Amino acid sequence: MTESLQEIARRLVSPGKGLLAADESSSTIKKRFDQIGLTSTFDTRRDYREMLFRADEAMQKYISGVILYDETIRQNAQDGTPLVDIIKAAGSIPGIKVDGGAKPLPGFPGETITEGLDGLDTRLAEYRRLGARFAKWRAVIAIGKGLPTEEAIRANAQALARYAGLCQQAGIVPIVEPEVLMDGAEATHDIARCDEVTRQTLDVVFEELVRARIDLTGMILKPNMIVPGKDSGQIVTGQEVAERTVAVFHATVPHAVPGIAFLSGGQEGAEATERLSLMNQIPNLPWKITFSFGRALQHSSLEAWGGKSENVAAGQRAFLHRCHMNSLAALGEWQPELERQAA
Ligand code: G3H
Repeated sequence: MTESLQEIARRLVSPGKGLLAADESSSTIKKRFDQIGLTSTFDTRRDYREMLFRADEAMQKYISGVILYDETIRQNAQDGTPLVDIIKAAGSIPGIKVDGGAKPLPGFPGETITEGLDGLDTRLAEYRRLGARFAKWRAVIAIGKGLPTEEAIRANAQALARYAGLCQQAGIVPIVEPEVLMDGAEATHDIARCDEVTRQTLDVVFEELVRARIDLTGMILKPNMIVPGKDSGQIVTGQEVAERTVAVFHATVPHAVPGIAFLSGGQEGAEATERLSLMNQIPNLPWKITFSFGRALQHSSLEAWGGKSENVAAGQRAFLHRCHMNSLAALGEWQPELERQAA
């Protein structure tokens, strides 16, 4: 039986589960592999992703869905099994990044527009045949001197709405990701500025989603947390991040949206986990709040693996640990002692 958009969306944010964002483009995964001195090739990318997707305990217990890149959704494991089948066998849902990346927005120095709408209906139909049941599109909003402009926010929100409509038409749940950067070119803004820009962005995004007649019950929002810019030097507590972030959602995110799944955006692994857990301790949340982390789930695992086959088990252990910690955080039950015990 075909699952409805609402059923898929609810499954993606089921209690104690979250998403693994493994959709790094070839240029982004190269940057990650450079950090461990590994050459990025078709085979090393396959080996890395296979290690993660075959981490059975982590995948079965904690990962509701995996966001893939175009190459990966078509790739087979070393033994010939499609990587998509490994994900499905773990009870997790395959998803696909469908945007074409953020490109300079003409006339607006320092700002970008995410490309990829042309031919998207055809690509979505193919991805659905390949097993994808949800998709992701990332819009990037940079904070800087005079930035962001209203025009850049509006253009990106309209693209997100067009994407979301095409996804729902194709029977695919759209993950709508408007990322206000914490680590852009000028990352010196404070937390209040992130708060203000994220409110403005989410307001415009939901205005455009509603105007485009998107069914809000059949989508997931993937936002940033409210944090200071990476180079601001501002120290904030996890509690402040959690309270500000939830307050921004109460002001901007309709209750019809079933789930909010965060990007990590350059936060350190345990830091993102703590903040997620504190948010889930705030009473009366109308949405499920969980993780859709890339770096914050993968970083320790990538380092433990180091590109060596003899380290696959160590890489999978590190991945399991972060998945377990974030699962507890999605339930509001994470404790710092659990990190220390693992260390
Ligand atoms: O689009 C961003 C990724 O899906 C999430 O990656 O958690 O490393 O920011 P991140």
